[in-house]
Amino acid sequence: MMIPSFHMIVAMDAKNGIGKNGGLPWHLPADFNHFRDITVGEQSDSRMNVVMMGRKTWDSLPEKFRPLPKRLNIVLTRSPEGNFPSNVLEASGFEQAFSLLETPVICGIRGDVFIIGGAQIFAIALGYPQCQKIYATHIEKIYDCDTFFPEFAHQFNLTQSSPIFQENSLSYRFAEYTRK
Ligand SMILES: NC(=O)c1ccc[n+]([C@@H]2O[C@H](COP(=O)([O-])OP(=O)(O)OC[C@H]3O[C@@H](n4cnc5c(N)ncnc54)[C@H](OP(=O)(O)O)[C@@H]3O)[C@@H](O)[C@H]2O)c1
Repeated sequence: MMIPSFHMIVAMDAKNGIGKNGGLPWHLPADFNHFRDITVGEQSDSRMNVVMMGRKTWDSLPEKFRPLPKRLNIVLTRSPEGNFPSNVLEASGFEQAFSLLETPVICGIRGDVFIIGGAQIFAIALGYPQCQKIYATHIEKIYDCDTFFPEFAHQFNLTQSSPIFQENSLSYRFAEYTRK
C-alpha cells in the first residue's frame, strides 16, 4: 500500500500540553483561524484536503462544527459502528485510513492530508516517515493539561517561526517543523 505524505497540526502549551478533560484548555480564536486556513488550504469543487483525527478529538468538537467543513473528515476508531454522519469516513486503523485515501474516488479529489490529533493519533503518526511537517502553535503559558504532544524535536528541525502575537492576554507563535 502506498502511504501518502502528510502533515500534523497542533497547538501546545509551554510543556507540550494539548488538552484537558477532553477539550482544549485555552480559548484562542486566532488559532482556530490559523487551523482553518492551513487545513482548508486551496479547496475547490474538485479538490479537498483531508483531516484525520482520533475518536476522542471528534467527540471534542462542538456538534455545529463537525464534520469540519470544506475538508474530508476521517475518524479513527477501533469500534467502527457507523455512529458518524454519512459524510464522515471511519477507519479502524492507520492502514485502513491510508488505503481509503488511495481509493480512486477519493484519490481523485483529495489534496493535502492533515493529522489533527489527539495525542494517541499524533504518537502513532509521528512514527511514519511520511509525516513530513508539523504546524505547531506554541502558547507561552503552562496549563494543567492531561494530554501531551509526543517528543518530536530529535526527528524534526524548526524551519519557520512567526513573531509572537497576543490575544486574550496570551502570547503565542506559529511554527513549522520539517522532518530531518
Ligand atoms: N491542542 C491541540 O492541537 C489538540 C488537537 C486535538 C485534540 N486535542 C485534545 O486532545 C485530547 C484528545 O486526545 P486523546 O489522545 O485523548 O484522544 P484521540 O487521539 O483524539 O482519540 C483516541 C481514540 O482514537 C481511537 N484510536 C486510537 N488509536 C487508534 C488506532 N491505532 N486505530 C484506530 N483507532 C484508534 C480510539 O477510539 P475508540 O475508543 O473509539 O476505539 C481512541 O480511544 C482532547 O483533550 C482534545 O481536546 C488537542
